[in-house]
Amino acid sequence: MQRTKQLHWWQRGVVYQIYPRSFQDTTGNGVGDLQGVIDRLDYLADFGVDALWLSPFYPSPMIDFGYDVADYCDVDPLFGDLAAFDRLVAAAHARSLKIIIDWVPNHSSDQHRWFLESRSRRDNPKRDWYIWRDPAPDGGPPNNWGSFFGGPAWTFDEATGQYYLHQFCPEQPELNWRNPDVRAAMYDTLRFWMERGVDGFRMDVIGLLLKDEELRDNPPNPDAPPDLPENDLFSRLHQVHNMFLDENHAVMREIRAVLDEYPDRCAIGELWGPLEEWVRYYGPQGDELHLPFNFRLMDGMAWNAPQMRASVDAMEAALPDFAWPNYVLGNHDRMRLVTRFGGEGPARVAAMLLLTLRGTPTLYYADELALPDVPIPPEKIQDPQGVNLGPERTRDVCRTPMQWDAAPNAGFCPPDVEPWLPLSADYETRNVAVFAEQPASILNLYRRLLAYRRATPALLGGSYTPVDGGPDDCYIYWREDGDSRCLIALNFSAEPRAVTVPGLKGQLALSTHLDREGEAAEGEIELRGNEGVIVAVGAA
Ligand code: NOJ
Repeated sequence: MQRTKQLHWWQRGVVYQIYPRSFQDTTGNGVGDLQGVIDRLDYLADFGVDALWLSPFYPSPMIDFGYDVADYCDVDPLFGDLAAFDRLVAAAHARSLKIIIDWVPNHSSDQHRWFLESRSRRDNPKRDWYIWRDPAPDGGPPNNWGSFFGGPAWTFDEATGQYYLHQFCPEQPELNWRNPDVRAAMYDTLRFWMERGVDGFRMDVIGLLLKDEELRDNPPNPDAPPDLPENDLFSRLHQVHNMFLDENHAVMREIRAVLDEYPDRCAIGELWGPLEEWVRYYGPQGDELHLPFNFRLMDGMAWNAPQMRASVDAMEAALPDFAWPNYVLGNHDRMRLVTRFGGEGPARVAAMLLLTLRGTPTLYYADELALPDVPIPPEKIQDPQGVNLGPERTRDVCRTPMQWDAAPNAGFCPPDVEPWLPLSADYETRNVAVFAEQPASILNLYRRLLAYRRATPALLGGSYTPVDGGPDDCYIYWREDGDSRCLIALNFSAEPRAVTVPGLKGQLALSTHLDREGEAAEGEIELRGNEGVIVAVGAA
């Protein structure tokens, strides 16, 4: 019996994250826009992904590049307008691509009309929509919490004599999710976008929604590195009272119920934390998030086969039957995959890993070009995290423009315009047009992997069984669904390795080097350095 047939789109599909500022500029201002995404839909459909996740495009002062939302139900003129968004949804759906948008419920911009009202007077009806507190007896902030972006998590408002809470920039005040009117208003924003045809939401910092009712101090973090910047108050504390509260789960179930008012919508949440906390966000009955993002192959993970396998196996063991796994290897907040794992060799093996594990993969734009972190001159740093906590913490490096062709500015924006962030120096040779012509490029590896995955029930919905006893630096596993079976063997080392799998009899369906397809594989496979293979057995 093949399980694959009953899967939802968000289980079978591959998600591709687009950072709209950096994808395609069509207005000639050096910043990408929604029309740019529309213009590149053919590329994306042909590439072989199933769903697009768009980072925020809402009206915003762009202090945190759109994660400071000034209106949850509109489009910033920088990116287009609602009509452009509607055209994007229609054009994507016409190509069978789903649209997932970012939803930023924990905080708004300080320019949102809700906050402008809230800060206007203590007795304003929206005062309680945000988290206001009197100063501590010494006049300082109400507790010791720090902001992720440096400095305290509280800002004093002279006019009304109280502090408001913001765990990111001061321009990102936190909504009060204990207030039922806030919850109702935010649920309406979900309905607004679902009415426009949105298929799912990636929910920003979803584990932060509820904070300790008494806003108690956080205890010191015993593992804080000694060399933290002076203003990094956040990392000095153990985050106990400001995130992952039990009370979050009732709210998750309310959010899920709103999505369930519409057919087949998907809730993805940005979450981290210990495995046992993370797994709870699926909900006791599978009634919270469909996909709490799984960052465990990325965060703190070196390029190391036993560690990767241990992470996958621990997660597989922790998942209840109803929970669907997912994997992420890059996003707009993390070091680029190719930089993190040490070059294109490992990046190719990582692509095979991501697209053959059990569960929904999320790709980050330009990983198909093995685009590395691009050095940003200190005077060009824009990310508030980099500005406040030091150039080595800037996320600009992983947000640089997509490289489409060898023209000046790589086809991202007109030649005479300065892109909002620099391109990588090698853009004339590292771009979609050039890689499309190279049969063995990483772009073509991604394409082949996506096509093979889509056609192979074992990879879409099959079981996952790791294989013991291989070389230490290889990771080997079976994926099986009925008579669709394949073995994946990944060599994490730069040296050749021989992998023995007793009874194996099949054919190489793909190698990360794209040069061995069709070779017989019987009992033993010789892997070159940094090579991964998929062996099809039976009717793969
Ligand atoms: C997580 C987002 O991914 C990140 O880019 C943003 O700065 C923070 N949340 C605050 O919204």
